[in-house]
Amino acid sequence: MRKKIVAGNWKMNKTLEEAVALTSEVVNMIKDEVTSDVQVVLCPPSLYLTTLRQYVQGNSRIALGAQNCHEKASGAYTGEIAASMLKSIDVQYVILGHSERRQYFGETNAQLAEKVNISLENGLTPIFCCGESLEQRQSSDFIGFVKNQITESLFHLTPEAFGKIVIAYEPIWAIGTGLTATADQAQEMHAALRQHIGEKYGEEIADNTSILYGGSANAQNAAELFANPDVDGGLIGGASLKSRDFTTVVKAA
Ligand code: PGA
Repeated sequence: MRKKIVAGNWKMNKTLEEAVALTSEVVNMIKDEVTSDVQVVLCPPSLYLTTLRQYVQGNSRIALGAQNCHEKASGAYTGEIAASMLKSIDVQYVILGHSERRQYFGETNAQLAEKVNISLENGLTPIFCCGESLEQRQSSDFIGFVKNQITESLFHLTPEAFGKIVIAYEPIWAIGTGLTATADQAQEMHAALRQHIGEKYGEEIADNTSILYGGSANAQNAAELFANPDVDGGLIGGASLKSRDFTTVVKAA
């Protein structure tokens, strides 16, 4: 059975004090209110990961993730963070290929393939983001575009390695815009991606791959999105910055 996952991508938000407050609120609310076995992943700015570790240690339902890592093992890459460093502080997940990284930092499918490799070598679980722009959505082959992101960054993996990947489908036109994909639009893409994975790795691996939806998912719309058979949770931006909203989204999964 594939895992239900709700990950909060805090992006470049929160001071240390605010990050600690949000984490402890979320930890308490999940403990008190969430009975399902959904995996929660908090992805704060990397700077806070070591501090926040103590709030989730020993709690298998809540893990920490980074928002990015570098594709090289170590060396002269000023300002960057290596996968091995994340591993050394018990980080379990890493978001890779978020559209903001692709758009503002020029990350390419080929570079993301390297980031995926180094993350897996260090025992991190990549949350691999893919998704089309509004312009691509209006063209006829937007599904092909997203499939190709997966092909170029992930399909070099062995079946065993691919089995460790979490996918997040995030239509760029829905990120931070308040425009959400409809439940049908999300289901259509998720099913197409699962089929694409199945054609390469077989039905069992495709069935076991968690495919999350991201893009203005929030406390109001999460239940409808997550009710789709191929939507296995969410990657949540704005709504992950408030403990009550985020917990409501977790409960919806
Ligand atoms: P949003 O962001 O929920 O604020 O749209 C999602 C994301 O970028 O992961």
